Amino acid sequence: MNAPRPTVKAKRIVILGAGGHGRVVLDILLQAGPHQVLGFLDNNAEIHGRRIDGLPVLGAIDDLPAVAEQQGCDGVIIAIGDNGARRGLARRVEAAGIDLISAIHPSATLAHNAMVGRNVVVAAGVVVCAHCQIGNSVILNTGCIIDYQTMIGEGTHICPGVRIAGRVKIEPGVFVGIGATVIPKVTLGCEAIVGAGAVVIEDVPALATVVGVPARRVKLATASEDVAAMLLPARM
Ligand SMILES: CC(C)(COP(=O)(O)OP(=O)(O)OC[C@H]1O[C@@H](n2cnc3c(N)ncnc32)[C@H](O)[C@@H]1OP(=O)(O)O)[C@@H](O)C(=O)NCCC(=O)NCCS
Repeated sequence: MNAPRPTVKAKRIVILGAGGHGRVVLDILLQAGPHQVLGFLDNNAEIHGRRIDGLPVLGAIDDLPAVAEQQGCDGVIIAIGDNGARRGLARRVEAAGIDLISAIHPSATLAHNAMVGRNVVVAAGVVVCAHCQIGNSVILNTGCIIDYQTMIGEGTHICPGVRIAGRVKIEPGVFVGIGATVIPKVTLGCEAIVGAGAVVIEDVPALATVVGVPARRVKLATASEDVAAMLLPARM
C-alpha cells in the first residue's frame, strides 16, 4: 500500500516549459490534484497564445512576475529537461518569492520516510524506497526505481526505467540515461552523465560521461563556474 501523501494546500500554478516534458508534468498534476493549472510559460514565441493539451501558453518565462500577479498564480513547477537550466531557473523563481511545487503521479510509490524536495517531478510508476532523499529540481522519470537510503542531489534527471540500488550517492546535476543500472554504494559525481543502458559498478568522477556494460568513461567535460564552486570543497 502506498504511504499517504502529505496534505498539500491547493495552489494556482503555472508550468514553466511547454515541450514534451511540460505535457508530462501537466498530466501528472491533473491526475494528482489538488492544484489548479493556469497554463504554461515558454520562451518559444511561436506557441504564445496557443493551447497545449487544453491549456494556454501565457507568454515567455520572463513574464512570470506579471502573469503571477494578473492570474493570481501562487506556485510554479519547472518542466525543462536541461538540468542546469532547470536548477538555475528554480533559484530565480524562489528569489522572486514564488513557491516551487512538486508533481507526484498517483501511481508512484514513495516510502513513508522518503524525503522529497521542491520542484521535483515523480512520474508514473516510480518507486522510491525507505530513507531516500530526493533533492530540489530532480526528475524521477517514468518507472524508475530508487532503492533504500539513496541520496539524489539537486537538479538531477533519472530517466525512464533506471534502476538505482541502495546507498547510492548521486551528486547535483547528474543525468542517468534510460534503462541504466547503478549497483549499491556507488557515487555519481557532480554533473556526471550515465549513458542509456549502462551498468555502473564503480564511482563515476564529476563531469565524466560513462557508457556500456560495465560502464567505462568516454568523456570528461569542463566545469562551469557553478559546478567548479560545488567541486572546490571536495578538492581541498
Ligand atoms: C551517453 C550519451 C549522453 C553520450 O552522448 P554524446 O556525448 O553525444 O556521446 P557520443 O555519441 O559522442 O558517444 C561517445 C562514445 O560512446 C558511445 N556511446 C554513446 N552512448 C552509448 C550508450 N548509451 N551505450 C553504449 N555506448 C554508447 C558511442 O558509440 C561513442 O563510442 P566511440 O567513441 O567508440 O565511437 C548518449 O549516447 C546517451 O546514451 N544518452 C541517453 C539519452 C536518454 O536516455 N534519453 C532519455 C530522455 S528521457
